[in-house]
Amino acid sequence: MRLPRPNLPRPKLPKPGFPADHPPGPTRPSFWRSPLRGPWLTSILGSALAPLILVCAFTGFLSQAAYNPALGNNSLLPGGGLGVDLYFFSWPTSPSFLYALTQGVHVTSGLLAIPILLAKLWSVMPKLFEWPPIRSIAHALERASLALLVGGSIFVFFTGLLNIQVFYPWPFRFLPAHYYGAFVFMAAFLLHIGLKIPVARRTFREQGVLRPLRADLEHTEPEPYVEGHVAPLEPDRPTISRRAMLATVGAASLGAGFIAASQSIGGPLRSLGLLAPRSTQLNDGPNGFQINKTLAKVNLTRDDIGPNWRLVLQGGEERILSREELLAMPQHTYDLPIACVEGWSTTQSWTGVRLRDLATLAGAPGASQVLVESLQKGGALREVTLSSGQIADERSLLALRVNGVDLSPDHGYPARVIVPAAPGVHQTKWVGAMKFEAA
Ligand code: HEM
Repeated sequence: MRLPRPNLPRPKLPKPGFPADHPPGPTRPSFWRSPLRGPWLTSILGSALAPLILVCAFTGFLSQAAYNPALGNNSLLPGGGLGVDLYFFSWPTSPSFLYALTQGVHVTSGLLAIPILLAKLWSVMPKLFEWPPIRSIAHALERASLALLVGGSIFVFFTGLLNIQVFYPWPFRFLPAHYYGAFVFMAAFLLHIGLKIPVARRTFREQGVLRPLRADLEHTEPEPYVEGHVAPLEPDRPTISRRAMLATVGAASLGAGFIAASQSIGGPLRSLGLLAPRSTQLNDGPNGFQINKTLAKVNLTRDDIGPNWRLVLQGGEERILSREELLAMPQHTYDLPIACVEGWSTTQSWTGVRLRDLATLAGAPGASQVLVESLQKGGALREVTLSSGQIADERSLLALRVNGVDLSPDHGYPARVIVPAAPGVHQTKWVGAMKFEAA
């Protein structure tokens, strides 16, 4: 079907002096010629983006709650994280794949959103060069909120994307920056949705939600120019139809989402996790699964984890145990996942001593929490506090072996924590001390 041609009277040229008072280049409306741009395209892209961003934010805030930020120094920032950590409950230990699920959905929805976000930003590009940049106090406030929206979206998605590559080309810590950046971005995003839903509804009422998709290239017409909106003043001829453009964006989005989901789901799909370098570079053998931090990366040597290694247990009393003494305690085996903040997860069969048995041995049966200290030198999360629920779960282990063999040095030999549903960074490796607090 042919779309109604916007054979409207040529728009009145705006305001006296226009365009002479616009500096040459992108501040002039005539600079932006794509006939695809317009409120309908922006609205349809926004409608696809909104649910993905809401899911991504919800699962992101949930994943942050998985750190139990109210305990010890678990908060992303020292001293309780600016007092804005979202934390309303103690993170459960069941189902054991809970963190793998929340973080997998977080990373996948974020990657699904990126191509749509880029297309959305392209669709509103003329507005970013609006001239004059500030017309009034109200306009200045609106521009400031847009700067937070656009800057916030680029910051949050860009840092997330690089984090999947374990690539940190910046001087700040990723987690607090990404998390608090998300607060700023979400505030600007919710304000933007509130302001733009009426525009999107009016556009869909006037042009139909899907009607413009019926037009092939030959019948692709520009949306009517209205001053202050994004349709072009002097449109060029189209070189692609709107539906072809949206199909391209949709394919890019599904492709990015698929390679993210495949690293979370694992199995044969893992080899397609192209954005997860560790997923495709696994060694053979029982210890042949992903490693984020190697022994060398945390400045430990084989001497640090050699025969002189001892575990210091504190609670009602202090106990110092060798690895042999730990191996002589009742051993338990469970299949549990390690799920990382980068979205990958892997389930392995772990064997070791129950944390609750260690609490009893330390004279703190039913402990209310435990501070787990790693031997690692440097690096974040050297200390982690686990909750009473995490200690009490029978599957929570100080693991000594994996898949029937000793842990490898890079997987945390002599002993590491494995707690169901906890984030990977709380599965402390190279444990040196555990300080239980009596109930
Ligand atoms: C990360 C997410 C988003 C970013 C960065 C973003 C960015 C922008 C920018 C910079 C503008 C131009 C300024 C303006 O017209 O006020 C704009 C306009 C608009 N946005 Fe968004 N937006 C996002 C999400 C959404 C969502 C989810 C919707 C869905 C309701 C939406 C609907 C619109 C509409 C209808 C316009 C007006 C287009 C026009 O007047 O021609 N946006 N957006």
